[in-house]
Amino acid sequence: MATLLHYLNQHCVNFAPVGLSSTHLLYQRAADVLFMMTAVCVDTPGGPESMLLRNVPRPQPEHGEVLIRVHATALNRADTLQRKGLYPAPPGESEVLGLEAAGTVASVGPGVRLSWGLGDWVMTLLSGGGYAEYVAVPEELLMSIPTHLTVYQAAAIPEAWLTAFQLLHFVGRGANVILDCIGGSNWERNVACLATDGRWVLYGCMGGKTVTGDILGKLLSKRGQLLCSLLRSRSLQYKADLVRAFSERALPHFSDPTSSPCRLRPVIDSMFSLDQVADAHRHMEANRNMGKIVINVMNPQ
Ligand SMILES: NC(=O)c1ccc[n+]([C@@H]2O[C@H](COP(=O)([O-])OP(=O)(O)OC[C@H]3O[C@@H](n4cnc5c(N)ncnc54)[C@H](OP(=O)(O)O)[C@@H]3O)[C@@H](O)[C@H]2O)c1
Repeated sequence: MATLLHYLNQHCVNFAPVGLSSTHLLYQRAADVLFMMTAVCVDTPGGPESMLLRNVPRPQPEHGEVLIRVHATALNRADTLQRKGLYPAPPGESEVLGLEAAGTVASVGPGVRLSWGLGDWVMTLLSGGGYAEYVAVPEELLMSIPTHLTVYQAAAIPEAWLTAFQLLHFVGRGANVILDCIGGSNWERNVACLATDGRWVLYGCMGGKTVTGDILGKLLSKRGQLLCSLLRSRSLQYKADLVRAFSERALPHFSDPTSSPCRLRPVIDSMFSLDQVADAHRHMEANRNMGKIVINVMNPQ
């Protein structure tokens, strides 16, 4: 029992109240290991210091869902907005931060149709919940990790690459397209270089949300189309179609260079452990990253 207690102590965040017998303690540890997990929680929206590691109930996979043992997740700008209370999780989705994850299949819920097996290495787009040891996700959003990629490289793929693929192939199809994540501060340059009948796809506002000037007149004179896109709030069906198209047309190019002439690779800027998540957010908010910031969830030191 002492060995088991030691194991359970190693795998739990919370300690039981003083005064419980070792048997009670053992049962509590066993329940924690089976049903609880460590996750990054934000009780009060604010700066990076507002993120806390908590022992919380482990999600259970519902109909058509798969439970992932998260080995790695990655940061997105939207996480910093959510942390500040400016971009809440869509209704019904996990309030834990994290829009992507990579890891292994831990269990499958009822009604899962695709052939995911326990222990399969997968990566996934999420509406939330990636900064945690486990996350439940609709099976249609899972992708196999391409051969020759590490789980950390895989965690750097879903959100950025599905966004780029979506903008190129689903939203702004064709020639003469501007893909713009800056917005406000760049609007005059964008409208000036927009081709007649061109499409300007706005998917972020890193340069501000407010414009002053004759943006509508200039857009009209070019017969330009201003399109706006957010991935997180799209329907499950849209995301499933996107994941399928990306898996068929782009994912093979991440594999072994000898099997693919045009190899794609995720760019990792830096790696942090889950208990360094506040430093990871500070790194992003100081614009010091060039590529993805990955969080190693599995090995917290
Ligand atoms: N709509 C969607 O579905 C969707 C999905 C994913 C991401 N996004 C959004 O897309 C944006 C970019 O995300 P990301 O993951 O690509 O971020 P990232 O890897 O951190 O890159 C941000 C880039 O923007 C540049 N930048 C930042 N502020 C700028 C400013 N005021 N003027 C000009 N350039 C500026 C940075 O340039 P420097 O390195 O020179 O600072 C950097 O190259 C974010 O706003 C994110 O929320 C939207």
